[in-house]
Amino acid sequence: MSNIVNSNAMDTAERAAEVLTRGGLIGLPTETVYGLAGSVASERALSKIFEVKGRPVGHPLIVHLASLDQLDHYAQSVPQTAVSLVEACWPGPLTVLLQRSRHVSDLITGNRHTVAIRIPANECARSIIAMHGHAVAAPSANRFGHVSPTTAEHVVADLGENVDIIVDDGPCTIGVESTIIDFTTPVPQLLRPGGFALEDLEELMGIHVAMPDGESRASGMLESHYAPKGKLQLVDSLPDAISIIRVHSEARLIDHWGNLPLYAASLYAQMRQADKDGVQLMVAINPAPTGLGRAIRDRLKKAAHP
Ligand code: TXA
Ligand code: MG
Repeated sequence: MSNIVNSNAMDTAERAAEVLTRGGLIGLPTETVYGLAGSVASERALSKIFEVKGRPVGHPLIVHLASLDQLDHYAQSVPQTAVSLVEACWPGPLTVLLQRSRHVSDLITGNRHTVAIRIPANECARSIIAMHGHAVAAPSANRFGHVSPTTAEHVVADLGENVDIIVDDGPCTIGVESTIIDFTTPVPQLLRPGGFALEDLEELMGIHVAMPDGESRASGMLESHYAPKGKLQLVDSLPDAISIIRVHSEARLIDHWGNLPLYAASLYAQMRQADKDGVQLMVAINPAPTGLGRAIRDRLKKAAHP
């Protein structure tokens, strides 16, 4: 596909930054999932993100920075606990919800007073953002409600020619989206479990993170999201999975349940492959709800929701 460019090519970061500067969209590799990135400085690019994804306006976007010194430009009144945490965790799969500054467009926040921000670990992503000079807004590069993309080919399959260039940096190493922590509540809340284990974040902060209350604030908190076309049945053990497959010989087992990092890294690719192969029934084993298992369970539950 002609709009895929290799991350190793000499001029890739420069070309991608040019696209951002003229208000275009790029498929951005990150350690979690591929993003659909547009410049925060271009209202045209921001509107196009919603159009191309088929995402309802009002669903807020994550702002991606190249370095920590950009944080104060986009957020204000950042609590010290949040500063210490991002100093320890960035670049990495952690997104923090903070009070927005006046530099953040209403399109990004969906008219909220808050803004979600992260620094991705993927080096190519950071060089592109640094070269562009402004932050980029980037949701996952899938059609709204569909399974997130973990390869450049997945981005092409969902969004194709509607993206100016897709930077191919190989499969995402983590494979599930970033963990989102809300620092605008009196006690920080977990808005979305993700690639950074909650236990590790709590240990770094020395406090317990609360479960979210109030209205559903993240679209990832909607019940049905990350959904494949085939039906997904969840079980708690391998023997349970085997019993189902005995009866439904056409069912496909989602693999790697014994190895959480591999399970997370391959989950979306396996669901996409099963859809491509026309598989009607997938069976997946719920991991224990600790570490990466918490994010995997969350995505499985949403993918299985009818
Ligand atoms: O790992 C990731 O976070 C990936 C990569 C590309 O960085 N991005 C990602 O973006 O997952 P997206 O748009 O698919 O999910 C962003 C989540 C949504 O559930 C959205 O509702 C929530 O972040 N979010 C963003 N800004 C918010 C805000 N101001 N208040 C509440 N939730 C917010
Ligand atoms: Mg998404």
